[in-house]
Amino acid sequence: MNFKKAWEGRLEGGLAPAFEALNCSLGVDRRLLLADLEQDRVWARALNRAGVYSAGELASVEAALGRLEDEARAGGFEFVEADEDVHMAIERRLTELCGAAGEKLQTGRSRNDQVGTSLRLYLRGELKQLTGLLARTLEALVTRAEEEAATPMPGWTHLQPAQVIALGHYLLSCFWALSRDLERLSEAASRAGRMPLGSAALAGTTLHVDRARLAAELGFARPSENSLDAVGDRDLVSETSFALAQTLVHLSRYAEDWVLWCGPALGFMRLPDSLSTGSSLMPQKKNPDSLELIRGKAAAAIGQVCSILSLQKGLPTSYNKDLQEDKEGLFNLLDSARAVLEVFRLVVQGCEFDRGRMRAALTDDLYATDLADFLVKKGVPFRRAHEAVGRLARAAAGAGVGLSRLPLAAYLEASPEFDARALELFDPQVSLARRNAAGGTGAAGVAAQLAEARALLASLPKPDPGD
Ligand code: ARG
Repeated sequence: MNFKKAWEGRLEGGLAPAFEALNCSLGVDRRLLLADLEQDRVWARALNRAGVYSAGELASVEAALGRLEDEARAGGFEFVEADEDVHMAIERRLTELCGAAGEKLQTGRSRNDQVGTSLRLYLRGELKQLTGLLARTLEALVTRAEEEAATPMPGWTHLQPAQVIALGHYLLSCFWALSRDLERLSEAASRAGRMPLGSAALAGTTLHVDRARLAAELGFARPSENSLDAVGDRDLVSETSFALAQTLVHLSRYAEDWVLWCGPALGFMRLPDSLSTGSSLMPQKKNPDSLELIRGKAAAAIGQVCSILSLQKGLPTSYNKDLQEDKEGLFNLLDSARAVLEVFRLVVQGCEFDRGRMRAALTDDLYATDLADFLVKKGVPFRRAHEAVGRLARAAAGAGVGLSRLPLAAYLEASPEFDARALELFDPQVSLARRNAAGGTGAAGVAAQLAEARALLASLPKPDPGD
């Protein structure tokens, strides 16, 4: 059957092949197939209630839609390039299967409100999957943080040794960053609860439909408030892109740390072989490619945020065809975020931490702040204490020894308030125990975070067994 374009009453002749190819979005929007079919079922019933479909027509359309769903699930739905987009592909197949009833399905509806609705339906499923993946990543992080709650390691600022921290505290820093990402994704999903269907092309449908009922049937919280706004609203695409880009940017920072940790200079971490690659040339190599790719994938994610905002900037209100370009980058980002989260979790679960190497890296200078605090306790103003320990650090560097190797005399020379007990501060557990304020790296600070983290995980919706 030679299916005509939807607008063939108005335009003469076929499309220029080059334009036909540019116009065709099937390669991208075929992903919306199931969501579109779900919407069609609900719309068909509304058409029946509005008197457009007889009971018989509705039955034949519903049966055909069921068949198309089966085809879609089995990967057997056949698209042809002339279909232009997923919506037209369904209309063509439906018309092939049930004739005039198929041709009536678009009554009172435009692809403008249709695509906005299907995109939200699709994204709802994706966001659920992604938040589930994030929750599993959080779970893995807490489990490792519990094991390493009291493992001391050097903490850096400016990549310079700064103060002693607990590895568990470090792992929880990743937990909290990702928990905010999860929050953002969930909020985006809840704002996606407004249904455009019923907005038609831009002015609202002429069909007698109960939009609240349609929304409920499709699982939306409510219908959109304004048809003009609804057909041009791509906020959800922007928000999802940002939330995922921020997630990948967070992951890229930990991946970068861990690339350094895996190198022989630090040797804090070992990746399982299953998450590493070798070199095709250098036989000795074990490269942390999994981490490098986690880091690298954030680049395109950032590009997507820029791209989706640029697409909307200055775009005339309501629907414009530019908006067809909202999907490709988004879908790529969804795929990439899924893949990265899976691998990141495997890294967290499967890596080995070398506590010995971490302990060996606890150089004396990490305790300099503790020395200054010692003086503060004796009543020395912090600025003076800072200066005294700074002089000590300079003397130690000059002598080529650690701070703990300087004789007591050098301490007394730096500040008469020092005494031999200052030398007891060069102990990681003592240093950690001094930082028990809420959110700090001390045992109590970490224990409180772990309890809070566990409570947060317990409050998250349980994943569906099939997910
Ligand atoms: N494929 C289009 C998109 O993704 C559907 C909407 C087309 N609307 C139109 N009036 N041409 O945006």
